Amino acid sequence: MSPQKIIIDTDPGQDDAVAILLALASPEELDVLGITAVAGNVPLSLTSKNARIICELAGKTDVKVFAGCDAPLERPLITAEHVHGKTGLDGPTLPDPAMPLTDGHAVDFIIDTFRSHEAGTVTLCTLGPLTNVAVALQRAPDIAEKIQRVVMMGGAYFEVGNITPTAEFNIYVDPEAAKLVFAAGIPITVLPLDVTHKALVTTERNDAFRALGSAAGIAVAEMTDFFERFDKEKYGSNGAPLHDPCVIAWLLKPDIFSGREINVEIETGSALTLGMTVADWWRVSGRPANALFIGDIDANAFFTLLTERLARY
Ligand code: RIB
Ligand code: CA
Repeated sequence: MSPQKIIIDTDPGQDDAVAILLALASPEELDVLGITAVAGNVPLSLTSKNARIICELAGKTDVKVFAGCDAPLERPLITAEHVHGKTGLDGPTLPDPAMPLTDGHAVDFIIDTFRSHEAGTVTLCTLGPLTNVAVALQRAPDIAEKIQRVVMMGGAYFEVGNITPTAEFNIYVDPEAAKLVFAAGIPITVLPLDVTHKALVTTERNDAFRALGSAAGIAVAEMTDFFERFDKEKYGSNGAPLHDPCVIAWLLKPDIFSGREINVEIETGSALTLGMTVADWWRVSGRPANALFIGDIDANAFFTLLTERLARY
């Protein structure tokens, strides 16, 4: 079977970095057509730099990396240095990238890619705020029916918020963008905090990354050592939640996840609950299902997959 064509839209971020490493280590299953950076965890100048740092760490300097939107559709940018550090990739010491950004705006790359491929043959993996995707849909509504699926890390329901009491960061940064994407009629798979908070990098799991001994394995362990502080302090969790790699793992091994097709709406009106993903898990609203909302994961199978793939570096 030929590899699944994907675009990775991302705001690296340590967990984004692990997701990109997982995707680039899986060429039999995934053909990464390009990586599009968006402002989120840190400003665009850093997310577009960090995406290239990770491509070089993976030894894949031929991957196209584009810079995208530097601010949400309608709001000032909110960043997460308190979680990811000043650089967005705090933890390991990694060299500045030698590979340049690919010419052109990320939004144009997204539009051009879907217009030049047969409908239903390219999947969009989003690991950050949905600004690039929303602008692409605003400028080229015709691509909505060409997108095979959006597989996104974002939102929360039973797990509630991580940046406010009700909102998850990726959605909260650009709720208007998220609202537009969920209303576009595109097949969507959502990997919310409900599932990513079950993908915890325990000490044993992180030791297994470090024991790989490669630059990539050690860097992942050092990123996790840094990244886990926030969740350990806030949730008392037993390790860092690997949010974004769940997106790639769902493409590689969907059977280790479970969820249900439900209606998901985005709060954009209330200041109190701005960016909340109102997930109708119990199907009480009568609103039509518009997303596969993932609630569970076989965490051991996830980490076995991730460690095996990282061992390829
Ligand atoms: O809330 C977690 C999400 O926000 C992850 O994608 C993390 O990288 C940040 O972007
Ligand atoms: Ca991210």
